[in-house]
Order: sequence, then C-alpha cells, then structure tokens
Amino acid sequence: MNILIKDLHKSYQINNKIKQIVLKGLNLEIKQGEFCAIIGPSGSGKTTLLNLLGCIDRPDAGRIYFDQQEITELREKQLIQIRRNKIGYIFQFFNLIPTLTALENAQMPFWYARNKEHSKFNDNLSRLYKEIGIDDLKSRYPKQLSGGQQQRVAIARALANFPEFVLADEPTGNLDSVNTKEIMELMKQESKSLKASFLVATHDFSLLNYFDKVITLKDGVIDSISLNN
Ligand SMILES: Nc1ncnc2c1ncn2[C@@H]1O[C@H](COP(=O)(O)OP(=O)(O)OP(=O)(O)O)[C@@H](O)[C@H]1O
Ligand SMILES: [Mg+2]
Repeated sequence: MNILIKDLHKSYQINNKIKQIVLKGLNLEIKQGEFCAIIGPSGSGKTTLLNLLGCIDRPDAGRIYFDQQEITELREKQLIQIRRNKIGYIFQFFNLIPTLTALENAQMPFWYARNKEHSKFNDNLSRLYKEIGIDDLKSRYPKQLSGGQQQRVAIARALANFPEFVLADEPTGNLDSVNTKEIMELMKQESKSLKASFLVATHDFSLLNYFDKVITLKDGVIDSISLNN
C-alpha cells in the first residue's frame, strides 16, 4: 500500500486551558513494500502518528491517503473495515489475550474480517507459524510463553490476514538482543514476502540498518529522512 500524509495536525486537549500540540503539519510518503523506521525523542509523537495511520484515532486536520483513497473523511464503519482488512498492528507489550491460546490469538483478526477467504488465511497462518518458529507452541497460553515467543505470536496475528500496512510500536522494546535481531529479520522478511509497507517506531539506533528508510520526527514535523540501500 502507498501511504501519503499531507499537512497532518494533532493535538490533545488536556483540560479546559491546556492543549498539547503534537503534530504540526506533517508530510510524508511511504511507498508500497517499504520497510520504514520512525525515530524521535520520547513524546515527539511517534505513537500518535501510528494511531492516526492505524485508524485508531483521527487527526484534527490534514489528510491521509491509502492508495489514493482518502481515509481521513471516512465514517467509523468504513475505518473499522480498513483496520480489519488492511492493517496489522504490533505492540511493545504484545497485547495477547490471556484466555486464548497462541493459535486462537493469531486467528482472532480473521473472526472479524469476513471478506477474506478462509483457506487462504489458514494457509498463511500455518506458513507464518512455521517461518516464525512457533509451530509447536500453538496450544500454549500467553503466560506459558517467553516475551520473545509472545511477540512472535503477536507478529503472526498482525500478519495472518495479509495486511497491506503494518504498524509496529517499539516491537523490540521488551526483548533481549538475540530476540530483537530475530524479530527484526522476521519483520523485514515478511514485509518483502507480503509486499506490505511497514512503519516501525523505535528508540534503538542499532537497528536502523535494517530499514529501507529512516524517518526522524521532531517538533511535530518530519525533521529528516534517510534512505538505506
Ligand atoms: N491521549 C492523550 N491525551 C493527552 N496527551 C497525550 C495523549 N497521548 C499522547 N499524549 C501526549 O502527546 C505527546 C506525544 O506522545 P506520543 O505517545 O505520541 O509520543 P512518542 O513519540 O510515542 O513517545 P515515546 O517514545 O515515549 O513512546 C506526549 O507529550 C504525550 O504526553
Ligand atoms: Mg510511543
């Protein structure tokens, strides 16, 4: 998916008097299949931007286009369809459902996304479980898994329904260096095999070599973009 962001503004009303301005006219393009990092100081608005792109929150002004379709004007019902069918989200704290097994957690998005083929989804999920190395953990509950294993399940969940755009908010923030490296390689590989665009928020500068493009957010706008070959 090609993502185009034009003059995006977002602020939070803290109380009657105080308004926190976070994004101040941000412009950005992410091309189809591009594996991108977004970096910037704590509080610079990385999560805010990811939430706007994930159709979880709405901007105050500005426009976001997914493949020429403007999503900022859509109604909630249409946004839900986009969230279910086009977007994958990976969180720092995994966010697995504790009462569901590893397999059920990854199947969950499909229970809601009705317009995709069942067998195609199941084949993709089986492939992911094997490639991600969690095939033998399917029947375990999240509390019976290590952090690295939980994040692998969360990645399978995010990717099973063939997302076109994957948002990851500090996906390796709670992992050791070995798991961090493996998870980064997995995400990059899946970005290529699914031809999905990725935007990964991170504080870890040692990971920046993995990305096609590194976007720096500062003072509410894009401060710089660097491309890796
Ligand atoms: N729901 C909210 N209500 C009020 N203020 C918020 C809300 N969410 C975020 N903020 C504020 O907006 C600013 C940007 O927050 P955001 O979480 O996007 O930063 P971040 O770049 O993701 O930081 P970090 O690297 O620490 O995760 C911060 O000052 C934060 O306090
Ligand atoms: Mg954040």
